[in-house]
Amino acid sequence: MASFKSSTRTIPDIVRVPRHVAIIMDGNGRWAKKYFLPRFAGHSRGVETVREAVRYCLGRGIGYLTLFAFSSENWRRPVEEVSLLMQLFTKALKQEVAKLDDNGVRLKVVGDVSRFDARLQELIHDAEITTAANDKLTLTVAANYGGRWDIVQAVNRMAAEHPEKRGEWTEDDLAAHLAMKHAPEPDLFIRTGGEERISNFLLWQLAYTEFYFTETLWPEFNATAFDLAIASYQQRERRFGRVSEQLTGGGDTASGEAPPTDAKSHA
Ligand code: IPE
Ligand code: IPE
Ligand code: MG
Repeated sequence: MASFKSSTRTIPDIVRVPRHVAIIMDGNGRWAKKYFLPRFAGHSRGVETVREAVRYCLGRGIGYLTLFAFSSENWRRPVEEVSLLMQLFTKALKQEVAKLDDNGVRLKVVGDVSRFDARLQELIHDAEITTAANDKLTLTVAANYGGRWDIVQAVNRMAAEHPEKRGEWTEDDLAAHLAMKHAPEPDLFIRTGGEERISNFLLWQLAYTEFYFTETLWPEFNATAFDLAIASYQQRERRFGRVSEQLTGGGDTASGEAPPTDAKSHA
């Protein structure tokens, strides 16, 4: 398995085109309201935006796209909406997987899928197997995903795998068990719909990600809107703890690696 640089343990390569974009697709309900449509129409239109976003990433050479589709807190919504979202996810998997495969897209689903009905779990499993060898774009759909759930499940698995290392576990040990271990940490995080919060998305992985918030509602997040997010990203100075002069070569550029930060002892 490929292993990726950790932004807290080593300084990642600073890339002009983000390798990994992670998006909270928010604002479907408000989009529907704006057009006097039922909320579900917003979710349906949102699936079309997903298609567009995938096309965009394929065209721009973005290697990883991660989309928050259903959070571990979204079960709190009215049962009818939850059920419609499940149906929509099922339908999208049935309709899109062949096309994704043709386009070289590898599909991954992260989250506690055990809570989904058996048919949906089977579709997810089959889609992942079918597309496993594709390498143009890795599309990760976060479904019944929560950042805290992810960290806790990783801790449990790490502890079960190496009980003898108790008290000596490192960041790398934990990262190897996180649901997103198949991808580098996101370079760019986008949230549509105007809210400026993480809503329990990739808590661990966003440690050094650039954040971009836009009022644009997800169903209206087209290629032009995506371009604006990328342009904003390209203006950021990613220092990863260093000072500006070190990036331009004017200062002390000594390797830049931090001393080990894994706490072996705690107060
Ligand atoms: C995001 O849109 C989609 C999901 C959470 C499934 P919302 O449904 O949250 O839309 P708003 O926030 O009500 O506009
Ligand atoms: C976050 O959207 C989750 C997804 C987009 C799937 P929400 O609209 O549910 O977020 P909060 O709860 O308002 O923060
Ligand atoms: Mg919302």
